[in-house]
Amino acid sequence: MDIAFFRTKPYDRLWFEPLSKEYGCRIHFIEAGLTADTVVLASGSNAVCIFVNDYVTEEVAEGLASLGIKLILLRCAGFNNVNLDATKALGITVLRVPSYSPAAVAEFSMAAILTVNRQLHRAYTRTRDFNMSINGLMGRDMNGKTAGVIGTGKIGQCMIDIFNGFHMKVLAYDLYPNENLDAVYVPLDELFEKSDVISLHCPLTADTYHLVNELSIQKMKQGVIISNTSRGSLIDSAALIEGLKNGKIGGVALDVYEEEEGLFYEDVSNKIIHDDVLTRLSTFPNVLITSHMGFFTREAMQAIAIETLENAFAYENGMKLLNIV
Ligand code: NAI
Repeated sequence: MDIAFFRTKPYDRLWFEPLSKEYGCRIHFIEAGLTADTVVLASGSNAVCIFVNDYVTEEVAEGLASLGIKLILLRCAGFNNVNLDATKALGITVLRVPSYSPAAVAEFSMAAILTVNRQLHRAYTRTRDFNMSINGLMGRDMNGKTAGVIGTGKIGQCMIDIFNGFHMKVLAYDLYPNENLDAVYVPLDELFEKSDVISLHCPLTADTYHLVNELSIQKMKQGVIISNTSRGSLIDSAALIEGLKNGKIGGVALDVYEEEEGLFYEDVSNKIIHDDVLTRLSTFPNVLITSHMGFFTREAMQAIAIETLENAFAYENGMKLLNIV
């Protein structure tokens, strides 16, 4: 199988290149992301491999179909970037990696929450300048506080364990509660009202779009810390900024952002940033922005490469497709 591998970064090559031989496929590494303009680069391949910010619109799907490509390999769990109606209508199979390291994302969310709460990002820059003052860097104990986990799937469950390890009371919300978890399921509004820390772990769907908005922020506790390692559009960024400006929100950790496409994963440090919302967010001392890297551990990268190529192998050999979207 020939796979056109879009949006290649050095760390992708590191994991995929050696494994490709084992799975008997040829990978054509392409730096560009997949768009209607770049789809032609997949010419001659049997499949494309894409990541979170490659959007398979109807136009892109038609472009793929016109090249005879019938397989999309998502090297990620989320699939909100694929127009499934279009791919289905064109007979294109979409396979994903549903789980690679839930712990990686949950551990990252906790690290970001602790960083924001204890202001480690500011302490780091201060001490590098030999400014040893700790004025303004006071945090709060996590011990004994209430954490709210929205979405109690694979990552949410790891998050619950981690919060419990910090001796927090854990509230949870999910459309499908799992009574085996060490958390108390409550209605969403109650979670908003009672949580000192809120960590988002549900997928982006029509129901969860702007789940955190002006109204829900109003319901939250004064000084609440919000962490989003899921998908950017779960949060209405304009409402978030208002909540930060009026002091309602005590801290925010964003590993994802609604308009991250074209910015995240790229070095744009020499460019003028035209996104006034992101630039405003980055001015708050209590906001930590990272570039969609919650998944980024050695273990997760290895698991992603193996599962993606297993998916390709299964498709090529007419085996049962376990990870079909
Ligand atoms: P999962 O599918 O195991 O769990 C998702 C949970 O959300 C399920 O329990 C589901 O019932 C629940 N859910 C669905 N709709 C909901 C709603 N309207 N309200 C509340 N809960 C709802 O997914 P997993 O592996 O835990 O991943 C969660 C999300 O994390 C993914 O959708 C993806 O967007 C994001 N992610 C982010 C990464 C990063 O690097 N920052 C890496 C991997 C995933």
